[in-house]
Amino acid sequence: MQLNGTTKILGIFGDPIAHTLSPKMQNAAIAAAGINAVFVPFHVKEDVLPGAVAAIRSLGLVGVNVTVPHKESIIPYLDEIDSEAKLIGAVNTVVNLDGRLIGHNTDGRGFLNSLHSELSFLPAGKNVLLLGAGGAARAAIVALAQADVGRIVISNRTYGKAEELVKEFSGHFPDTELIAEPFATEKLQSHLASVDLLVNTTVVGLQGEDFSLPLIETLSAKAVFYDMVYAPVLTPLQQAANDRGLQFADGRGMLAGQGEVAFELWFGTRPASDIMRSVIAK
Ligand code: ATR
Repeated sequence: MQLNGTTKILGIFGDPIAHTLSPKMQNAAIAAAGINAVFVPFHVKEDVLPGAVAAIRSLGLVGVNVTVPHKESIIPYLDEIDSEAKLIGAVNTVVNLDGRLIGHNTDGRGFLNSLHSELSFLPAGKNVLLLGAGGAARAAIVALAQADVGRIVISNRTYGKAEELVKEFSGHFPDTELIAEPFATEKLQSHLASVDLLVNTTVVGLQGEDFSLPLIETLSAKAVFYDMVYAPVLTPLQQAANDRGLQFADGRGMLAGQGEVAFELWFGTRPASDIMRSVIAK
């Protein structure tokens, strides 16, 4: 990397930030594309977020990624929020268009791209069971519904949150059937037996823990499993899918996918294929 007087700057806002893989992913793609730019981590605490957003304009950054805890709280400081980020209710990518800051959310498209490239899964008309009802679940629901999925059953430890998501999104996506289902019911088991895709959007498995209900055991043999968790070793759910010979993928592809979509928003060109994925694999 050769920094000089015309080097463009991008970065990621978060707290904590030291663990982020985005600088490695983005700088590898920037170098491969021969672009004169650098992507750096910015440790932005909550109380300085407005000033940090103003600095995107005043310092002329190309844009930033946004991570925990700013994905929702950054919204009021931006000039425009694209329709997908509005539906998801969170922004993970900001593009600086001559001082106008546009908020996007590339998590959902990263998820869809990863489903397609790793599991050859196309959502149109399919039945999905989704575990969790937090921010990651919202991105997955919006992306799947926009891709014309037939039905999403949302199941969450706190059932009321699944019900709220169904209520909120049903009006937006009349062609997708949205159903809330509590954990540990017979109905949930019958959904498991018939779905095409199981998605875990919760953090369960990150520390080696498991859900206290049968999931993979009763999952349809034709189903694929997408686990947004990625850990150095297979999580109990991933191990169970592996033991049953089910096709599954973990969240590394989604991490790469959201970065690839963000790169394209900033630079107007696709990053080299698989470069972010290979950085994460290392
Ligand atoms: P994210 O933005 O990553 O989705 P979040 O908004 O905090 O994070 O949501 C976390 C999700 O993981 C929630 O659906 C949460 O369930 P609750 O709504 O019941 O809290 C789920 N979750 C976290 N720990 C869990 C556990 N041990 N068992 C089951 N679900 C869990």
